[in-house]
Amino acid sequence: MSNPFRGRSLAVIDDFSLDERLYLFEKARELKKHITSNNKTELEKFRINDSDFGVYEVFIEDSTRTKESFKNAAEFHRVKLSSLETSHSSINKNESFADTFNTLCGYDNLVFIVRSKQEGLCRWLEENGKLYAQRNRMKQPPAFINAGDGKHEHPTQELLDEFTFLERNNWSREYIHIALVGDLYHGRTVHSKADGLSIFRSVKVDLVAPKELAMPDNYIDRMRENGFDISLFDSIDSYMESGKTAPMWYFTRPQLERMGDDILKRQDELRRKIIFRQEFLEKIPEGTIFYHPLPRHKLYPTIPTFLDTTPLNGWEEQSANGKVIRIILLSLIAGIMGSGFSGERRGGRAAGESENFIEELPVKDYLVTKDYAEGVKPISNGLVIDHICRGESEKDIREHLARIIRVLELYGKGGEWISSSRSQPEKMKGIIFRPGQTEPGSKKMKQLAALAPGCTVNIVKDRKVVKKLKLRMPPKIYNFPNISCRNPDCISHTSQGENVPAEFDRITGDKFRCKYCEKTHTFKEIWIQ
Ligand code: CP
Repeated sequence: MSNPFRGRSLAVIDDFSLDERLYLFEKARELKKHITSNNKTELEKFRINDSDFGVYEVFIEDSTRTKESFKNAAEFHRVKLSSLETSHSSINKNESFADTFNTLCGYDNLVFIVRSKQEGLCRWLEENGKLYAQRNRMKQPPAFINAGDGKHEHPTQELLDEFTFLERNNWSREYIHIALVGDLYHGRTVHSKADGLSIFRSVKVDLVAPKELAMPDNYIDRMRENGFDISLFDSIDSYMESGKTAPMWYFTRPQLERMGDDILKRQDELRRKIIFRQEFLEKIPEGTIFYHPLPRHKLYPTIPTFLDTTPLNGWEEQSANGKVIRIILLSLIAGIMGSGFSGERRGGRAAGESENFIEELPVKDYLVTKDYAEGVKPISNGLVIDHICRGESEKDIREHLARIIRVLELYGKGGEWISSSRSQPEKMKGIIFRPGQTEPGSKKMKQLAALAPGCTVNIVKDRKVVKKLKLRMPPKIYNFPNISCRNPDCISHTSQGENVPAEFDRITGDKFRCKYCEKTHTFKEIWIQ
């Protein structure tokens, strides 16, 4: 059987299934044991040992731990390690990421470790790399490891965090109770925990942050979807008052410098809410342990340095685990380990319930009534789109009618209005009439389903409805020129200039997730205004 890990990319933590992560941890545990006992014979079994195997570090943002632990891991493996001098690269001359990485692929490099401000970059590079490998008849496509992308995810930090928590839990996966403290808004390491902590069967998470630094709703929703028990506190003070603090605390560094002058003016007040103070020490139960992905701010560390010599210090062992985890990750991607894996592999994320989102309804043999009218005259031949935004406010319906007309270019003769629903008169709906227009083609129909789910499309000929279609929310919205992610840091956002086509997967109801940065959008937000 082929090795399921060979050539794999890791853009988000969920790219590896639970079983795949557990397998990685098992191997990391073995490696750590052999490192501790300095068992050189056993250590050899973990090495790639191929000076032609190219690993490339591309850090467009600064790093110590992630960059240096991967460097040390690559040195352990005795592979070819390169690092792009991003401050002197042609990225600064507006070269696209696709061109930069294609060039480096052409120099026989198979694994790229990438840190960027752009969110979702590794997902895009993974797709682009597959096409490059096909065009250039490479034996295998390159793998891309996300070393932190904006405020999205940091999956390799998540791997080492999960490993550290399991180690602390004596390898029990039954239960974890953890406090996430600090800048939960910008902190990509805590965002990865929304899926990452699913490694534990029962998860209780206390989110401790003032509202300015609170965990974004889409990650809280994801935690709830994953069955986590969530509690929110606006400061460490209020958390301490609850009297039910977690045995593990995971701190993050506030990134207030990203938040503008108003926040900077209030930085002392905000920092006070998330910095641990001496007076709290006597109130926390014995056995509590603190973690931090590091770096700590040298002037305002959320874990003050007087705690370094106390049993609360879990962050140093956590940091050291980074090298072990990254050695194993490279062993797996290189395919020298992992062929014995028999667990569940990663499947695609569920993308909506049904592909069947255009349904033809039976048509009754009736003449068009005044409901389908061209002004005051019943429509003779043409198109009537009915039940648009049923139940929404009149203002929202009118705005959306204008959006539909603009996107589908439904200009020309006819009109649109708001009317009350016949079956539920208290509910409003929008209707578009287009006399003389024929049935839209399949691409336009898909676009209409994505713009006006729940609507009915009526084709009228000789004053009779000859065809009636009901459109539902499609499982995926993609391949349209007028859609865009709303996140300006997303690699697919038009302002990035990378020509990455936007794509959205339906999560539930009218909610869609950007394929790249994973920001949640309602279906209306997807469309360019
Ligand atoms: N934890 C972490 O990502 O640290 P660096 O920014 O130093 O890589």
